[in-house]
This record gives sequence, structure tokens and C-alpha cells, in this order.
Amino acid sequence: MPLTYRPRQAHWALLLATTLALAACGGGGDGPASAETATPDDAEHAAALAAGAADASFDAALPSLIARRKPQFAFLDFAKGRRLFERETFGGNGRTCLTCHSRETGTTSPADAQHRFAVNPADPLFLADGSDDGQGHGSTRMRQDATVLVRIALPENVSLANDPTARSVVLRRGIPSTLNTPALDDVLMLDGRQPDLPAQARGAIADHAQATREPRADELALIAAFQQTPAFFSSATMLKYAYFGATPALPPGRTEAEKRGRRFFVDAPLQGDFKTGLCSGCHSGPMLNETNEFIPAPPFRRGGRFQSVGVSEFNVAGNPVLDVVFRNADGTTTTVSSPDPGRALITGNAQDVESLNAFKIPSLWGVARTAPYFHDNSARTLEDVARHYAQFFAAVSPIVLTPEDQADMVAYMKLLR
Ligand code: HEC
Ligand code: HEC
Repeated sequence: MPLTYRPRQAHWALLLATTLALAACGGGGDGPASAETATPDDAEHAAALAAGAADASFDAALPSLIARRKPQFAFLDFAKGRRLFERETFGGNGRTCLTCHSRETGTTSPADAQHRFAVNPADPLFLADGSDDGQGHGSTRMRQDATVLVRIALPENVSLANDPTARSVVLRRGIPSTLNTPALDDVLMLDGRQPDLPAQARGAIADHAQATREPRADELALIAAFQQTPAFFSSATMLKYAYFGATPALPPGRTEAEKRGRRFFVDAPLQGDFKTGLCSGCHSGPMLNETNEFIPAPPFRRGGRFQSVGVSEFNVAGNPVLDVVFRNADGTTTTVSSPDPGRALITGNAQDVESLNAFKIPSLWGVARTAPYFHDNSARTLEDVARHYAQFFAAVSPIVLTPEDQADMVAYMKLLR
């Protein structure tokens, strides 16, 4: 399916319409009461498109709305921020943030890459770390998997068995969506390695765009602020959470499949058929991106952000496997064979379940829009994700996810807009 770039203004108008409606009916408290109704449906969307351009009063109110959650980004020059995100190349290879983080989905899928290649084989997406060899030659990987070659420096206690002097590794990773994350997630990157948005943007400009001029601090702050604006939310529900603190609640579900699917995501201890609360062990909290206290694996606490669900272990993507040697605190060594050890390359700890082959637990809000899935893009659809989890739980537990269970969880995830 080719990318259809809806004008940013239209998206803005949609969110504006629902936001003003919320403000008018006195919503915006911290309770979950108003959250259930917020998901914009297609009719609402069409009406908002017809309504046309954004309202100047909302425009003026935007900095103070953003300041509610992220005071450091309260100042905002929308036009400047947009130009930096979408047009500024910093004297580099011609890429901008928009090269990889599209307006529509915040990411780039294999279908998007194929379409862009057909239109223009010289599209900057296929340059450098987007090319097969990292030097600009070949576009096969980008067109098939839409992954980027990411270079990660090795911690001092970590080395490669086959290349002992190497101080970094190159990994194939998908492009996470910039919807919701910049405003609503303080943990950045698939392995959590960036401390904040300006540092993240500086890294992206150096690595992906091969900049020849260092971005100024005010430019980095503007890029960060721009990523808090309405077009960077997957729905009015997410926007209301960011700007008004209206905590999102799990939608009730209408069809039988959706209602059955919901039980996987409610906070509950695993019991009986082990299905109620199965996914919320990790997809809990307002953003459905943290562990709850019922997670059946240590450290059994709420708020954990890194876990492995077997994506590197199964290596369905068929990525090259590295033999990575970790020198442990007690002087012993652990050698790990993995296409991407994830968080362990940041912590240097191969003995910690929240590090080894562990990745950031992603939010599930807006997930239907942001295929493909997992850090290596190995799941093309939500159905693939459900199949993966059936295989994962079969490998690590007695839990059986039937085809109906898988269809139910997919139906439910499509409601999480
Ligand atoms: C070549 C494609 C590419 C370009 C260009 C690019 N990014 Fe990214 N972006 C990625 C990839 C790949 C990751 C994840 C890498 C990882 O975690 O190792 C990422 C991660 C992110 C994240 C963190 C997402 C999360 O879930 O934690 C943000 C925010 C982001 N990029 C913003 C930007 C901004 C701002 C720019 C422009 C300054 C930019 N990106 C340019 C590919 C790109
Ligand atoms: C043990 C923790 C854990 C459990 C339980 C869990 N997940 Fe996940 N989920 C994760 C992690 C971590 C990732 C990222 C994995 C990766 O990229 O390697 C993920 C990724 C996903 C993604 C992909 C999102 C994206 O943007 O790429 C979906 C969808 C998802 N999980 C749905 C589910 C469903 C449905 C269940 C229940 C069957 C479930 N998860 C159970 C931790 C968990």
C-alpha cells in the first residue's frame, strides 16, 4: 500500500475538534472518567477534515498545553520546528527526520520503502545506513524489511568473540514510530540508550543524516518541541492524556471477539486458563508499556520497561548472529549468541533478564497504524505478532494460545487508537 500523505493540517483539525469538545464539556481532569469516549472514529475524522483549518486560539494555547507535561518544551515556534524536522539537512546526506519518520505513521514500512523506491531510487531513505552495505550500495534490505543499520558502541566489559578489537557492533533495527512516544515516553530508543529528546535528535542528525554542521541547542529543543504537537499523537485519546492528563482507559470492546480480547490486557494475576492478564504482565500502565506487579517472571514489579519476548532468540528475521562476550562482575565471562542482545549492550549485563535480548516494552496505543512490529520488523502484521506470542508462550510455559485467542487479541489491539 503506497503512502498517502494526508496534509498535516487535516490531522491537526481532527485533534483540534475533539480537544475543543473536551474543553467545552469541562473535561480534562486527571481521572479516567472522560477517557473511554475519546477514540475518534471515521465519521468524526471525515467531519474534522471537512471542518478545515486549525483554529488560531488553539494554536496560541498550544505552548501552555505542552507545558503541562513537558515544561522544557513550552516555548514553541511551530513553523521553525517543522522546518527543522522536515527540511533541515544540517549539511549532511540530504536526509531529514521525515525521511524515516513519516507524517502518516511516524515510521517507514517495507511497503512504503517499495513505493518510494519505485518513485525515486535515489530517495535518501536508501543512503548510508539505509543501504545494504552501509556505504550506499543496494536497497534490498530496506525494501524487504525496512530496517536501518544501527551502530552501537560496546561497553568496556563487552567484546566480540570473532573480532576481539572491535569497539562497536552494527545491528539491523526497524524504525520505531514517532507517534505518542516523544510526548508520552521518557525511555527513548529500542534499548533505552538516549536520555532525552534533544540528545536523541543530536544522535539522529549525526548518524542518520551524516551532518557536517553541529545542530545548535535551540534547534534541538525546537525539534523536541515540534514532536509534542498534535500531529504526533495517534488519536485524541493520546493527545488528551498529554495535554490534559486524562488517563486513557481500556476501551470496553463491542464485538464478542473484542470483549474476549480485552481480558488479555486487564491487570490481574495469572490464574485459571492463564489468559486473563497475560499481555498486561508487560503491557500495563496508562501507555500499556510497563510491567505490572503480576508479571510471572522476576523481578515481579510494576514499572519495568525492558523485557525479552524471544524476538532475538527466535531470529525469524534471519539476521546475522553475533557471538558477544560479556565479562561479568565476578570475573567470569558469558558468551551470548544473538543477532541483537538489545539492552545488554547498554548495561553490559548478560545475567539480568531485563537486559539480555531485552528491548523497550512498546506502547500499544495506535499500534494498528505502525506495522511492521518488533525491533527487527520481523512481524509484518498484528496477526504475525499474535502467532509469535503463541510460539513464545508455548516455548516458555504451558500456555496455549488458540487461533481464536490470537484473533481476539488482534481484534482488541485494533481498538487501541
Ligand atoms: C535513517 C532513518 C532515520 C532518520 C533519518 C531518523 N530516524 Fe529516528 N529512529 C530511527 C531508528 C532506526 C530508530 C531506533 C534505533 C534504535 O533504537 O537503535 C529511531 C528512533 C527515534 C526515536 C525514539 C523512538 C522510540 O520509540 O524510542 C525518536 C524520538 C526519533 N527517532 C526521532 C528522530 C528525529 C527527531 C530525527 C531527525 C533529527 C530522526 N529520528 C531521524 C531511524 C531514523
Ligand atoms: C514479558 C513481557 C511481555 C509480555 C507478557 C507481552 N509483551 Fe508484547 N512486547 C514486549 C516487548 C519487550 C516487546 C518488544 C520486543 C522486541 O522488539 O524484541 C513487545 C512488543 C509487542 C508488540 C509490537 C509493538 C511494536 O510497535 O512493534 C505488540 C503488538 C505486542 N507486544 C503485543 C502483545 C500481546 C498481544 C501480548 C499478549 C499475548 C504481549 N504483547 C505480551 C513485552 C511483552
